[in-house]
Amino acid sequence: MPTETVYGLAANACDGKAVARIFEAKGRPSFNPLISHFATARDIEAHAHMDERAQMLAQRFWPGPLTLILPRKENSTISALACADLPTLAVRVPGHPDARALIKAAGVPLAAPSANISGTLSPTRAIHVAEGLGDKVDLILAGGASEVGLESTVIDLSGPEVHLLRPGGISAEEISDALGGTPIHQPDENSEIKSPGQLLKHYAPTTPMRLNAIDLAPDEALLGFGSLRFMGIRGGGAALDLPDDRVRNLSEGQDLHEAAANLFAMIRELDQSGAQAIAVMNIPDQGLGIAINDRLKRAAS
Ligand code: TXA
Ligand code: MG
Repeated sequence: MPTETVYGLAANACDGKAVARIFEAKGRPSFNPLISHFATARDIEAHAHMDERAQMLAQRFWPGPLTLILPRKENSTISALACADLPTLAVRVPGHPDARALIKAAGVPLAAPSANISGTLSPTRAIHVAEGLGDKVDLILAGGASEVGLESTVIDLSGPEVHLLRPGGISAEEISDALGGTPIHQPDENSEIKSPGQLLKHYAPTTPMRLNAIDLAPDEALLGFGSLRFMGIRGGGAALDLPDDRVRNLSEGQDLHEAAANLFAMIRELDQSGAQAIAVMNIPDQGLGIAINDRLKRAAS
């Protein structure tokens, strides 16, 4: 979809499998959290807490090139994959009328990173998207050249201080002014960590995880992928006979989209099973599997 900043690769933010296809099409090696796009600020209230600061910035800059990081509401239906299972949510009301019309017509928030292959330039014209992702997307909604041509400014309002996570079309000074002179913390130029994605504290299970398991210890839970028919338990027994709370299958049919959509929720559920460890079956290291394995390695380290 066109937006005033750059073209976005959009999918239903509440549908984990659809969101998985975004990561697959972009060839992202890991599951970075995505921005959820809304038609109006009011629609955000079902998903995130808008405090007074958020209301002020929304009033002043939306629709427009500003993204806010807000505390996510417990009952939000945004998929865990879209927000990388963080307790926060990135939200934005885009200024491009076609984007808002699309979101309204869809009736759901749209998760959308820039519509380019990971590591390449962001597209600001429909033809750029066609060149990069033409064979990977169902439809390109042509909406002219992006006016801003630069990704949105990202402001973190999830804590008491205001942080600028990504500079963009709207300056820190304008943000500070709109908040009555509130100081804006900016990323340290000398700091090695520049990408906000790297600063994120992800949910880590408290139960140890073991990857590429080919069998199970008696006190382990199983995170499966594909058929569990040949998974045995050391000392006797089979994974198929494990109690329901000890076993989850990311995708019985080895569908990586389904596996990605299930990943965060299933890790959480097994973490609560009381097992000594979570054994994870091998996931092929290709396509979306690369991002799934990246997340599993971090959860296991
Ligand atoms: O202008 C834009 O923002 C474009 C258009 C399509 O809207 N979208 C875009 O999305 O640039 P993307 O995924 O390329 O960038 C999202 C940025 C990333 O730097 C990501 O780390 C950060 O937002 N982000 C998303 N959710 C976050 C969260 N919960 N906490 C901190 N940073 C977050
Ligand atoms: Mg991008």
